[in-house]
Amino acid sequence: MAQEDVFKKIVSHCKEYGFVFPSSEIYDGLGAVYDYAQNGVELKNNIKQYWWQSMVLLHDNIVGIDSAIFMHPTVWKASGHVDAFNDPLIDNRDSKKRYRADVLIEDAIAKYEEKIAKEVAKAQKKFGDSFDEAQFRATNARVLENQQKRDALHERFAAAMNASDLDELKQIILDEEIVCPISGTRNWTDVRQFNLMFKTEVGSTAEGSSTIYLRPETAQGIFVNYLNVQKTGRMKVPFGIAQIGKAFRNEIVARQFIFRMREFEQMEMQFFVKPGTELEWFEQWKNTRMAWHQALGFGAENYRFHDHEKLAHYANAASDVEFRMPFGFKEVEGIHSRTNFDLSQHAQYSGKKIEYFDPELNERYTPYVIETSIGVDRMFLSVMCHSYQEEALENGETRVVLKLPAALAPTKLAVMPLVKKDGLPEKAREIIDELKFHFNCKYDEKDSIGKRYRRQDAVGTPFCVTVDHDTLTDGCVTLRDRDTMEQTRVKISDLRSLIEDKVSITSLLKKIK
Ligand code: GAP
Repeated sequence: MAQEDVFKKIVSHCKEYGFVFPSSEIYDGLGAVYDYAQNGVELKNNIKQYWWQSMVLLHDNIVGIDSAIFMHPTVWKASGHVDAFNDPLIDNRDSKKRYRADVLIEDAIAKYEEKIAKEVAKAQKKFGDSFDEAQFRATNARVLENQQKRDALHERFAAAMNASDLDELKQIILDEEIVCPISGTRNWTDVRQFNLMFKTEVGSTAEGSSTIYLRPETAQGIFVNYLNVQKTGRMKVPFGIAQIGKAFRNEIVARQFIFRMREFEQMEMQFFVKPGTELEWFEQWKNTRMAWHQALGFGAENYRFHDHEKLAHYANAASDVEFRMPFGFKEVEGIHSRTNFDLSQHAQYSGKKIEYFDPELNERYTPYVIETSIGVDRMFLSVMCHSYQEEALENGETRVVLKLPAALAPTKLAVMPLVKKDGLPEKAREIIDELKFHFNCKYDEKDSIGKRYRRQDAVGTPFCVTVDHDTLTDGCVTLRDRDTMEQTRVKISDLRSLIEDKVSITSLLKKIK
C-alpha cells in the first residue's frame, strides 16, 4: 500500500476510534486545529507523563513549572519574536492561495529525491538479490543527474534562507518552474515576511487595553522565571527547568493532520550550564533524548539526527530528532544550544540582573542554555503512525491493531463477561473494582467476544480478560495478549502482578539506556 494511503487510513482511524476530532466539526472544522477525543486524551496524557517523569524523576537537578500563556508583551520584543518570528510567504494571483515560499522549494527538492528513489526501486526489482545500491547510485546517469540538480537547488535554497534573501527565494520558484497546485500557473507575487504570533487585547476597554501575544513557545515562561526558580529552589548550575504547555502559531501552511497545527502543545526543558561547557551538554542531551525516544521500541532505524545548517542568530549548535513518518523523516524534537542570548536579552529589557553566582569559582556569570523542545502532538502522531498495523490472520481475515507501547495505551485492560447473564457481568465488574485503582480498565459486554477483541485491538488495549462460567467456581479468567493474541488461563488474584508492571510508565523509564 502506498504510504500516502497508509497515512489517510491512520487519520480516519484517529477519528473513527475516538483519538482525534477536527475542531468545531459541526461547523465544518477550523483549519489546523484539532480536539483530542476520549482515547486520544489518555494517550496524550501518557506521553506527557512519560516525558515529565523522565525529566523531573530521573534528574534530581531538574524541576518543573507551569507558567501562564499570557506574558508581558516586552517578553516577545526581548526574545526577538516580534521582529524575527516570520515565515516567507508568496501568493498565487490566479488561485488567490497563499503558500510558504520555503515549503514550495522544499517540495521541489523532495521531488528530485522521489525521482531518485523510484529509479533505485525499479533497479532493485529488476536485479533482485544481486543489486548493489551504492554502485547504482554512483553510476546511473539518471540518478546522478537528479542528484546533481537536487544538491544545486538545496545549496541555493540554503544560501537564500541564510541571507533572508526574499527576491532570491522568488527567483528560485520561477527558475524551478514551480506551479500553484490549485491554478497550475506561475503567476506569483513577491515573497514577503509574515509574523506567526497571534495577537489579542488584554483590558476591558479599547482605550485601556494593550496588545499581547499568545505564546509561540513555552520556553520564554522558563527564562523569565529562571531567577525565581534558582533562588527559591536553591538550584546549583547545572540545573534544568521543565514545562509542558500550549503554544500558538499562525501557520499558513497547515498540513499533515496534527503535524503542523495553529494551537499545539510543547514539552520543553531549559538546562542552564556554565559558559564554555555548553557543547558537551548539547551532545549529552542529544544522547539522552534519543534514548528516551528509542526506549519506546520503535526501532533505531526509524530515527535520525538532522543538524541545522542555518543556525538562529543566538544558537551555536542545533539538531533535530527526526522520525520516519509515512510522509518521510520529519522533525519531532529540536535540541538547541541557545547560548546566553535569552537570559541576557531579558536582563537588558527588564533592567534586572539575571546571573548566577558560582560558589566554586567565586564568580558571577549568565548561564548558557541547552534546550530540548518536543511537540506533544508530533510525538502523538509518530506513536500512532508506528503503532497502526493491518495484520493478515491465518483464517484469511485482516485485523487492524494499534501496537502501542503498553505504558502509553489509553486502556490497559478490558474486562469482558462471556455472556450478559448468569452472574458473569457482576464478576467482571468486581474485577474492575479491584484493579481500577492501579491502571485504566474498561468494561465491555456488547457483541461477540471476537468482535470485542477486535475493538480493543483497534484502540491498542494490551490485555483483555474474559470471564466465563468456570470463573465463578475456579476463580480464573482467560487473559489475552493484544500482540500475540495468545490466551492463557490465570488466577484473578494474579492479574494485578501480571499486568501492572508491563503497563506502567516506570517500566518504560527503566528502558531508557
Ligand atoms: N523553543 C524552541 C522551539 O519552539 P521549534 O523547533 O520551533 O523550537 C519545537 O519547536 C517543537 O515544537 C518542534 O520540534 C515540533 O515538535 C513542535 N512544533 C513546532 N511547531 C509546531 C506546529 N505548528 N504544530 C505542531 N507542533 C509544532
